[in-house]
Amino acid sequence: MNFERTIVITGGAGFIGNHVVRLLVNKYPSYRIVNLDALTYAGNLENLRDVEDKPNYYFERANILDKDALERIFVLYQPDGIIHLAAESHVDRSILSPMDFVYTNVIGTVNLLNTAKYFWNNSFENKLFYHISTDEVYGALGETGFFTEETPYAPNSPYSASKASSDHFVRAYGETYHLPVIISNCSNNYGPYHFPEKLIPLFINNIIHKKPLPVYGDGKYTRDWLYVKDHARAIDMIFHKGKIHDTYNIGGFNEWQNIDLVKLLCKMMDEKLGNAAGTSEQLITYVKDRPGHDKRYAIDASKISKELGWEPSVTFEQGLSETIDWYLENTEWLKHVTSGEYQRYYELQYHKRD
Ligand code: NAD
Ligand code: TYD
Repeated sequence: MNFERTIVITGGAGFIGNHVVRLLVNKYPSYRIVNLDALTYAGNLENLRDVEDKPNYYFERANILDKDALERIFVLYQPDGIIHLAAESHVDRSILSPMDFVYTNVIGTVNLLNTAKYFWNNSFENKLFYHISTDEVYGALGETGFFTEETPYAPNSPYSASKASSDHFVRAYGETYHLPVIISNCSNNYGPYHFPEKLIPLFINNIIHKKPLPVYGDGKYTRDWLYVKDHARAIDMIFHKGKIHDTYNIGGFNEWQNIDLVKLLCKMMDEKLGNAAGTSEQLITYVKDRPGHDKRYAIDASKISKELGWEPSVTFEQGLSETIDWYLENTEWLKHVTSGEYQRYYELQYHKRD
């Protein structure tokens, strides 16, 4: 079959990646979508069962640290687009083992840049290296203000430092070698297939199992939450309509202090589980704070809104309700991803905090 375009999506078996793969495979049957993923603890092909038999979907198990594997995949598929999501993505893990973040997020990204540069060989027309990043590169905000595309980088965690470093390399390859690059920086995502080490899925899983809900510090940290399918829609728009060498901030216009979010989640779960009001809130346990904990993130997403016409499509209450329903309907998925290595991480991360 002759495909109109070939896009390699790295990290397609992860949380955001599976939504991007699904959207593009279904929306563009004339595109060949190649999911390149190492299948770490965070990557799971179960996330893509509904697209794995589509004729335009391909999977390659490969590590972005493996240059030979990247070369083989570029020779085989001749991609004209890269959407790069593969990363170590959890702040708490980055505090436990920063080097994993340096390897995958920094060195892995540079390997991918080098491979694209070599294979595209200065013939950059209709090519795009699109790098997916985070608002955490900007550091922390006080009570007021927003991150814009002009906010200086000031990362505070090993995770955000590694993402900031990868952003700088992507930008530098655009400047130095004229590689056609775009970067987007998004706020906290939530939704189906979110690995239960991050706040929302961890707390949903713990409420299901009546386990303590470990709120770090005083719980008065603020995040801007975006439904993952809206992030995937933004990625599609930026990939097709974004300006080369530009950056875009993506956010939900939706700030919540952790403790308020957790209380809302408890209330919604009690209603759905048929519990007496207040049952899940009793599980809230304040634990030792995360070191270097960023106080507040908030994105000014007016550029992508004005230039590309993107807006979030669901309210937080709608998105959260759909998310909870998905977890309650997919307890087998939760059981699979929380067996084995998950237990060891949970012990290490939380039992020292109780
Ligand atoms: P995730 O941890 O759920 O998934 C990461 C995926 O990358 C997994 O499938 C994993 O197997 C794969 N991977 C990890 N190391 C790899 C390697 N060395 N080689 C190949 N594949 C590898 O992450 P996510 O939450 O889906 O985040 C995806 C991207 O979006 C990341 O770059 C992250 O920094 C960024 N981001 C995430 C959020 C968020 O709220 N989750 C917000 C903004 C930006
Ligand atoms: P998280 O989902 O890890 O995302 P990020 O650190 O990338 O923003 O955490 C979201 C917020 O929730 C953050 O302020 C830390 C807090 N948090 C807890 O209070 N308890 C937890 O067990 C976790 C995982 C996070």
